[in-house]
Amino acid sequence: MSTDEFPTDRPAVVTCGLPYANGDLHIGHLRGYIGADAFNRSLETLGQETAYVCGSDMHGTPVAVNAEQEGVDPADFALDWHRQYEETFPKFNVDFDNYGHTHDETNTELTQEIVRTLDEAGHIYEKEIQVAYDPDADQYLPDRYVVGTCPYCGEKARGDECDEGCQRHLEPGEVENPESTITGNPAEYRQRAHKFFEVSAFTDYLTEFLDGLEGTSNARNQPRQWIEDGLQDWCITRDMDWGIDYPNGADSDGDDLVLYVWVDAPIEYIASTKQYSERVGTDEYDWERVWKDDGDIVHVIGRDIIQHHAIFWPAMLEGAGYNAPRGIAATGFITINGKGLSTSRNRAIWAKEYLDEGFHPDLLRYYLTTTGGLQQDVDFSWEAFQEKVNGELVGTVGNFWYRSLLFAYRNYEGTPEADVSEEVHERIEGAIGETREAVNDYDLRGVGHAATRLAQFGNEYIQGNEPWKLTDEEPERAAQVIRDCVQLAKAVGVLLEPITPDKSQLLWEQIGEDGEVADAHLEDALEAPPRTFDEPGELFEKIEDERVEELTRKLEERVEAAADDEDESDEGETETDDTDADESGDMTDTGDLEPLLEDRIGFEDFQELDIRVGRIESAEGIEGADDLAKLEVDIGFETRQVVAGIKQLHDLDELPGTNCVLLANMEPAELFGVESNGMILAAGEEADLLTTHGDAEIGEKIK
Ligand code: MF3
Ligand code: ZN
Repeated sequence: MSTDEFPTDRPAVVTCGLPYANGDLHIGHLRGYIGADAFNRSLETLGQETAYVCGSDMHGTPVAVNAEQEGVDPADFALDWHRQYEETFPKFNVDFDNYGHTHDETNTELTQEIVRTLDEAGHIYEKEIQVAYDPDADQYLPDRYVVGTCPYCGEKARGDECDEGCQRHLEPGEVENPESTITGNPAEYRQRAHKFFEVSAFTDYLTEFLDGLEGTSNARNQPRQWIEDGLQDWCITRDMDWGIDYPNGADSDGDDLVLYVWVDAPIEYIASTKQYSERVGTDEYDWERVWKDDGDIVHVIGRDIIQHHAIFWPAMLEGAGYNAPRGIAATGFITINGKGLSTSRNRAIWAKEYLDEGFHPDLLRYYLTTTGGLQQDVDFSWEAFQEKVNGELVGTVGNFWYRSLLFAYRNYEGTPEADVSEEVHERIEGAIGETREAVNDYDLRGVGHAATRLAQFGNEYIQGNEPWKLTDEEPERAAQVIRDCVQLAKAVGVLLEPITPDKSQLLWEQIGEDGEVADAHLEDALEAPPRTFDEPGELFEKIEDERVEELTRKLEERVEAAADDEDESDEGETETDDTDADESGDMTDTGDLEPLLEDRIGFEDFQELDIRVGRIESAEGIEGADDLAKLEVDIGFETRQVVAGIKQLHDLDELPGTNCVLLANMEPAELFGVESNGMILAAGEEADLLTTHGDAEIGEKIK
């Protein structure tokens, strides 16, 4: 592993956590696949050689339990979902170089080979353990066949994961008060021999590995804590039929065991890369160089599976002689209208639903990447989606593209003959630099913002220079301004391509460029576009208020309907329907409160927030925006203009004169054409405004 900057002269691979092939894809999944796709495309714009691979996670109880409920064979069940996923991802412009699945030959062989290697190297041993068993069903109860209480945090947990509490992986036998999900009976424990991988022997290795690991801070900090608490060895076999057989067939009792799903799943990262390499030829892309030699491996995952990726996986790779990941980016949770995403409550935005509504995939891509990046939590509401689309994509980017190109087309039939001004050249170079830095920081929001800010600059530039007034009097100056604008338009298209690949491609074609904008590198943003182009069209369309109201109503209605259903079915006994796919933020039993963040931050992190006492001087609604108000806030040194989503929630006339609390070093943003220069702090859905109660002075720092 190496830490020199991207682009490196080595091949890279970007992966995203494999989806369990067990149910419909939703926004919680998309967030990861879109994020990783945008990151991979960003690496490509830097000129990095890279591949983006993934596959369906076919094994384990998440698949077996759901297949059983439907009364179908797990292999057919999983394959069915796999095919659906394969068709769905491209519809969101998620462009995998290879999308395999864990049950295919490549992965089965590679998994057995790696386990054999670990075994031969003495990293695997057999041990008798207590395994949950259901006497009525006459079967062992691995993983999701059993529920109980987490021994670490006391929350309700599944057999192998504390999915509603501390997110820890649980070993067989660890869950307390075990109950069978098949019959609802208390489970018994039976003695049984299983295979263990000696993770604890890698403690020093992992400590060092984490010190060099790039990506998001949560992927390093939590594992450090787990290491400090002491690593346990890891049971890697299960009493099930569905899965990849433990190599060499049997344990000492003569029973067949399959490998725990978390062994063969990450190996699909390698298997999928291998399939890609075999398809394009190793001269073009060499999977062995990436995985066994010096490639740059980046994993994008949900933060509920950090332990698997930052502890078990690197230990396996090291033990079997493979290369370690360079970076792990662990994404936060998704909430819908401020409440936890829950598939069982139908509080989710489904992939299919989004497409059926006819929204362009690039809109969701933009929303997810610029609000959540690769790390932050994301709240989705149709209102917030509308606000982003109308404000930033229509208002800033689309508006700039269209007005510049239309003006250029009408007056010059394309790009006027002039050189780009120094100022604009430098501005574009600046944006390229910001993008490069953002990619190296795994900061996707930064990638998006660099592009949108450039478009914003473009709008101000055209507005400030008023070329329409210059065409007659100062034709040379007019040509110069428009030449600059066309260059800026092109640059925004190139910089935004990782996030909005289709729209950028359309822009690319509108300015008369050949080929694919996806093949362009950042520096191409400075290359002159062709001399002529055709009449441009608008690339983004406003989302109307009525549309949003209807979508919001539909969502509310179906969440209510699901709640009614649940009330009825709750009268039954077992909880077997609580076996959703990964829910990235389901908070089934914690009411409507957002979950507490597991990640602790240091005091220095807190100090980076410049929070001040302010006094609201004026407050007025923003025209065209349902929820937004423009506030002027005195913070001692100066008066800040801020946009806050409180129009409906407060009587704006009452606000002037009240003290508030303002995050002063928030990045500036533009909403509905109004600049926002800070953030007013408020609690909850009703935006209860924070204030002070003593004699703190205006401008004083909160600490
Ligand atoms: N299917 C798992 C989940 O949804 C993720 C597997 S990621 C891999 O939680 F690393 F194992 F591939
Ligand atoms: Zn727990």
